[in-house]
Amino acid sequence: MSVTPAGLDIRNVRVPGRTGAWDLLVADGKVLELLAHDPAASRAGATRIIDGRGLLLLPALTDAHAHLREPGQEWKEDIRSGLAAAAAGGFSNVLCMANTDPVNDNEAVTRLMRRRAAEAHPHGPRLFPIGALTVGLRGRELAPLGELRDAGCVAFSNDGEPVADTEIFRRALEYAADLTTPVIDHCEDPFMAKGSGANEGAMSARLGLRGQPDAAEAIQVARDILLAEYLDAPVHLAHVSCRRAVELIAAAKKRGAPVTAETCPHYLLMTDAALLGYDTMAKVNPPLRTDDDRLALTQALREGVIDILATDHAPHALHEKETPFEDAKNGISGLDTALASLWELVRQGRLSPEDLVTRFAWRPAEIFHLPVNRFAPGDPADFLLFDPEDSWVVTPESLRSKGKNTPLLGQPLTGRVVLTAVGGVVVHDLLARPDPA
Ligand code: DOR
Repeated sequence: MSVTPAGLDIRNVRVPGRTGAWDLLVADGKVLELLAHDPAASRAGATRIIDGRGLLLLPALTDAHAHLREPGQEWKEDIRSGLAAAAAGGFSNVLCMANTDPVNDNEAVTRLMRRRAAEAHPHGPRLFPIGALTVGLRGRELAPLGELRDAGCVAFSNDGEPVADTEIFRRALEYAADLTTPVIDHCEDPFMAKGSGANEGAMSARLGLRGQPDAAEAIQVARDILLAEYLDAPVHLAHVSCRRAVELIAAAKKRGAPVTAETCPHYLLMTDAALLGYDTMAKVNPPLRTDDDRLALTQALREGVIDILATDHAPHALHEKETPFEDAKNGISGLDTALASLWELVRQGRLSPEDLVTRFAWRPAEIFHLPVNRFAPGDPADFLLFDPEDSWVVTPESLRSKGKNTPLLGQPLTGRVVLTAVGGVVVHDLLARPDPA
């Protein structure tokens, strides 16, 4: 990593949504100017000049949903390795979930997470903890939300352990709204969702797996929408995976309900056909669903019914995946590969580069009140350079995350984040690597 808070001059890049070639000037951690490329310009003050020909310049991404496992489960991931994966994936901001051990339900844990991030990655990516909604994620009593907010939590969630008690959830929404801090809900009816990891349908029947119906998700989405409207309190719906939920969200938004929603790369790229062969790497909660669900989600993302992309980065050790299917942990490691894997949808014409900028950078920063770079003078110089032609194969060694659990292992990807800068400091840099002899 090179610490150059002074000047960067990135030349001759393409920028989604703008025609022609552009130069980005950075000084003191901020955008000085994004201006039409001038091959003849000689600019004083740049400590590094980067030839960006053939590269795309994007604002750095914000991941609103990552599990970094520290404290307590460092064999899966820790804040150092998780943020290294984030840097390699093009992220400047990472929100980390509360299902650590101990749970992030008090200020000591929040402060520990922030301290570890500051020690391991003083120049970013920035870590923003998400506080637990209920003590111990047990769903019985509210966590001290004000204390968590004051310690630095930017949202509250019981992710992984959805709150079954509607009265508790109602109180949580009211309390969080008073603190103007969003609640992120993992939508899953906890009684119906037993045996998660496979979608209930033709594939689960064929494989003899206990499945989770899409209704288990949609029932909770409906509950949350009704409560958000009744209380006029916002709720953010995590990792939406099915058409039924999309339809409920679309109707709610038409009525003006204060709901926002996310989906994850794996729900746009894969279906439950990935479970053929009982591949535990594709076991995730909510489960991969059908092609019809995948298409509904892609359209909803383009239209803004689904507001944002988030990774649901859920690293696990190999011994937790190399088990019989029913025993394997749920989750896919996603920070390293999110953007590169989604690029396939751009290549297929299903998403545009502008969709990725809006849904993975601008809108998440808006929802969670985080720093955002729209390339206006004075914006934080949080950006990434993406090589849309770089082909690489996903291997355990290519992932910075300790979590090697992804169904993409062994697959070729086209498109790669080659540089990430946070506040003008380069935190991931493949451009500086020496040429292979
Ligand atoms: O697949 C998942 N893994 N879904 C969750 O909700 C939790 C997560 C985890 O913590 O591993």
